[in-house]
Amino acid sequence: MSEVGPPESDPDALLQVRNLEKHFDNESGLLAGVEFTDEFPYVSQSASDVRAVDGVDFDIKEGETLGLVGESGCGKSTLARTVLRLLEPTAGSVYFQGADLASLSGEPLRRKRKDMQMIFQDPQSSLDPRMKVGPIVEEPMKAHGMLDDEGREARAKELLTKVGLDPQHYNRYPHAFSGGQRQRVNLARALSVNPDLIVCDEPVSALDVSIQAQVLNTMEELQAEFDLTYLFIAHDLSVIRHISDRVAVMYLGNIVELAEKEELFENPRHPYTRALLDAIPVPDPRSGGRTALLSGDVPSPIDPPSGCRFRTRCPKVIQPEAYDMRDDAWRNLVAFQRAVDRREFEATDPDVLRSRYFEDAIPSGDAGTLLDEALGHIERDEWDDAERILVERFVDESVCATAEPAYEVESVLGDDRHYAACHLRRNEAVASAVDEAATPVGPKTPEADD
Ligand SMILES: Nc1ncnc2c1ncn2[C@@H]1O[C@H](COP(=O)(O)OP(=O)(O)O)[C@@H](O)[C@H]1O
Ligand code: SF4
Ligand SMILES: [Mg+2]
Repeated sequence: MSEVGPPESDPDALLQVRNLEKHFDNESGLLAGVEFTDEFPYVSQSASDVRAVDGVDFDIKEGETLGLVGESGCGKSTLARTVLRLLEPTAGSVYFQGADLASLSGEPLRRKRKDMQMIFQDPQSSLDPRMKVGPIVEEPMKAHGMLDDEGREARAKELLTKVGLDPQHYNRYPHAFSGGQRQRVNLARALSVNPDLIVCDEPVSALDVSIQAQVLNTMEELQAEFDLTYLFIAHDLSVIRHISDRVAVMYLGNIVELAEKEELFENPRHPYTRALLDAIPVPDPRSGGRTALLSGDVPSPIDPPSGCRFRTRCPKVIQPEAYDMRDDAWRNLVAFQRAVDRREFEATDPDVLRSRYFEDAIPSGDAGTLLDEALGHIERDEWDDAERILVERFVDESVCATAEPAYEVESVLGDDRHYAACHLRRNEAVASAVDEAATPVGPKTPEADD
């Protein structure tokens, strides 16, 4: 394995993650996750694997904070642990300071780990209740043979002060501390071995909002003082906005958008990012507070949708090339297909459904004929037949289902790269598409969407 970093190595990058995958066997047992086939190599990956992280690329520059945001279950914690090789990756590489972590094991890996620390969400369970704060902070130093007893105690007390605690707290047990204070103890412990990178997995999610800001401010001060680089995970966009320099948005095991913070918040180019942003409550009382626009559940990572993983919930999914429906008729058709998928109504007369789902615009021509067929099936309670038409002739024909999107678009704010995994961006993609496979099968120019 290479020791000199990945292709297109960025000299500023502290961490480079390439095509990283982490799949879990969904069943236990010796041969769980393995399927036998009659073709070479005779075994294949099981269809029941949980594809928690499924092909992720990003860099983190020295001294920056990369925020990672996404709904619960999208793979953030698995990604964090796989990056640090606390979990063995299924595929892909992680380069830290130019060295391929996969090529390290034993003592060299242990030494590298000193430079990459992690802070977890739950400050309650991550501190051993039987240990006093002093030894907790000193533990990593001890493990790495740093300093003598006296030196470690002095450093622990100094770090307690740096993280905003009292050096007197050295002799207290964790239960004597509030959640915010416990997270400060965790910070001191992570800092004790003088790391370059700290991976923070929802470090403030369990804290009250007022305490969150204080801990985030401390983390920013420590970053400047100790030249730290952070990978900072949160599901809360306001926390991400507070702390990040750049932001990666994750959905179902993939990164769907990555850009500088201002660019991402002011010029989001992925419908999922927009939905997340629209779901942030707006303080203006006249707006009444906006709520999430996304309907439907997140699909299972065991069998994620083909093409764009967001397509089963996306409000912008692109109509197949074979049709020329008005945009509103296509949107109605998509909403109808999703309602059929969820069996949202009972079998009934086509006219009732036409007026409920297509009153303002109904597909005509070939699309209209197919819709009539589907409506006929529903009237006869033949749901599977109706669904087959709606899925195979419409949904599965969309470029959103047939090709994985990966584009780089122009940044309007700031000069960093802006990655957006959405086919709506293919006509504005700068240079060539990031993923060549996505280029040949694009849709017609989609209607302006913004
Ligand atoms: N050890 C495991 N075995 C099987 N599935 C797992 C395991 N850990 C996580 N998962 C699954 O992987 C997906 C991603 O989980 P996780 O990384 O914890 O997401 P997040 O941190 O974004 O909430 C989820 O579907 C979760 O159920
Ligand atoms: S590729 Fe299609 S489904 Fe995916 S986000 Fe873009 S428009 Fe939506
Ligand atoms: Mg998590």
